[in-house]
Amino acid sequence: MSQINLNFKFLKTSNFTMTKSSTIQFLHNNRLVEIDFSKETEHTPTTTVLQYLRKSHEHKGTKEGCAEGDCGACTVNIAEISNNELKYSAVNSCLLFLPTLHAKQLITIENLGTSNDLHDIQKAMLQTDASQCGYCTPGFAMSMLPLFKQKSIPKKEEIQLALAGNLCRCTGYRPILEAAMQIAGKNSPDKFTENEQLVIQELNKIHEQTNLIEIQNNSTVYFIPQNLNEALRLRNEKPNAILISGSSDIALKVTKKYEHLNEIIDLSHLNELNFIEKTKKTVLIGSGTTLENIKDQLSDIFPALGEMLTVFGSRQIRNVATLGGNIGSASPIGDSLPILMAYNAIVHLQSAEGKRQIAIREFITDYRKTQIATNELIVTIEIPVTEKKKIIKYYKISKRKDLDISTVSAAFELELDKASNVLVFNAFYGGMAHKTSHASNVEQFLVGKKWNEEHINLAKALVKEDFKPISDARSGAEARLLMAENLLFKFYLETIN
Ligand SMILES: Cc1cc2nc3c(=O)[nH]c(=O)nc-3n(C[C@H](O)[C@H](O)[C@H](O)COP(=O)(O)OP(=O)(O)OC[C@H]3O[C@@H](n4cnc5c(N)ncnc54)[C@H](O)[C@@H]3O)c2cc1C
Ligand code: FES
Ligand code: FES
Repeated sequence: MSQINLNFKFLKTSNFTMTKSSTIQFLHNNRLVEIDFSKETEHTPTTTVLQYLRKSHEHKGTKEGCAEGDCGACTVNIAEISNNELKYSAVNSCLLFLPTLHAKQLITIENLGTSNDLHDIQKAMLQTDASQCGYCTPGFAMSMLPLFKQKSIPKKEEIQLALAGNLCRCTGYRPILEAAMQIAGKNSPDKFTENEQLVIQELNKIHEQTNLIEIQNNSTVYFIPQNLNEALRLRNEKPNAILISGSSDIALKVTKKYEHLNEIIDLSHLNELNFIEKTKKTVLIGSGTTLENIKDQLSDIFPALGEMLTVFGSRQIRNVATLGGNIGSASPIGDSLPILMAYNAIVHLQSAEGKRQIAIREFITDYRKTQIATNELIVTIEIPVTEKKKIIKYYKISKRKDLDISTVSAAFELELDKASNVLVFNAFYGGMAHKTSHASNVEQFLVGKKWNEEHINLAKALVKEDFKPISDARSGAEARLLMAENLLFKFYLETIN
């Protein structure tokens, strides 16, 4: 590993060339860091950014609480180029593999300010007494940096949402929230603003010099293709390789289950998978688009999708987690699945041989299994724009509102005629079976009936015909059935005039 001190104030540009495909380069605070994994003994491609930071004497400010994305103590910022500007995102360093930093700027707490020159965020935290033991403080400060950089002043709810991925166990949240409210949207020039143009220049340079990265180290081979064709070729040649987009699911295999991953294809650098295209009739979403981007750009067109995304993980998770990754995981409690089914979305797959499309309602075949072939990638998710006459809603029941996975979830699609008879009714449940599933008996019963309480009560009784849920740590089977029935009733109450 080598580090070039860029000393942004004095040095104009660095001078380096990309020679080996096993090398990654990124900016960390004011330094260009180069890691050649073929020589590296301390770090492997599945070393997380948190593990990397904690091994360095200079970067102990970033803390480990849970190592699974739940506490926010490890929050750092990643700055990337977006529309010729730097975009700052708070992410959990415990869920990022080191190679994902390639061609990005990593900002850690040490770079925010010094005791002689505090950043406005630190000043605000001091003023409001927002830190007691201090363990969570660097994580909160890092979650506040993108808030500070926002160009408009966000509402209180948005600020709360931005901090929902950080836990504090001693100070209490009121002073922390007060500090965040003081700085949110302030966007006054700081040391990061000063260096932005040079950072953009350096990151562009790394991009231009990057070809396929192929890291071989400690019996792990880690590929970072730079375009879709390269990715499809690799997928064809390496059918057993694990795909990662945001790695928020896959990283847990390493950090929690201590699994060794032999072959990884990292899709996170593919611009071709990171886009949103809107037309009058349909919206196309690249599979590598992050859930936070989807929330920002599509909540007005698909309100139920937007609502689901406000209770999906935390902002740190949504900043990396992708729609393709949520579908690819095919978890029976994956939150995007019921809602995409209700919207009747289509999954576009591509291999080196060609393209095909499958309705999401048919795509999931079994517990964590899909129709994807071993040489295919999910490239696009297509959502038809909802006709005005249809009502689509999503509900999630979890032990706590923020940063929790679903115990039971449901998405409903309803169309009534003028006399309130049901023309279309679809109900998709998560957490009720080994995969996200239709409540087909309920659906069949309700179609053609009057949309009224009597029929809903009769339909509720059919939920147990549709599902035989399991009991697990999250809930008992009986409670799950009750939740599923009550969600149907809640939907009814919210759809009667
Ligand atoms: C703290 C925490 C909170 C979470 N909260 C939620 C939650 O509220 N709701 C929820 O549903 N999930 C949640 N998750 C799970 C996870 O964040 C999501 O499933 C996320 O959408 C995965 O996306 P990713 O890009 O990170 O996937 P990755 O981890 O990169 O990949 C996941 C899987 O998808 C496959 N895959 C990825 N991209 C493609 C592609 N282009 N083509 C084919 N296959 C592909 C991979 O093979 C892999 O098996 C949470 C996870 C954590 C750690
Ligand atoms: S250590 Fe808890 S979120 Fe990373
Ligand atoms: S200040 Fe102690 S955990 Fe937050």
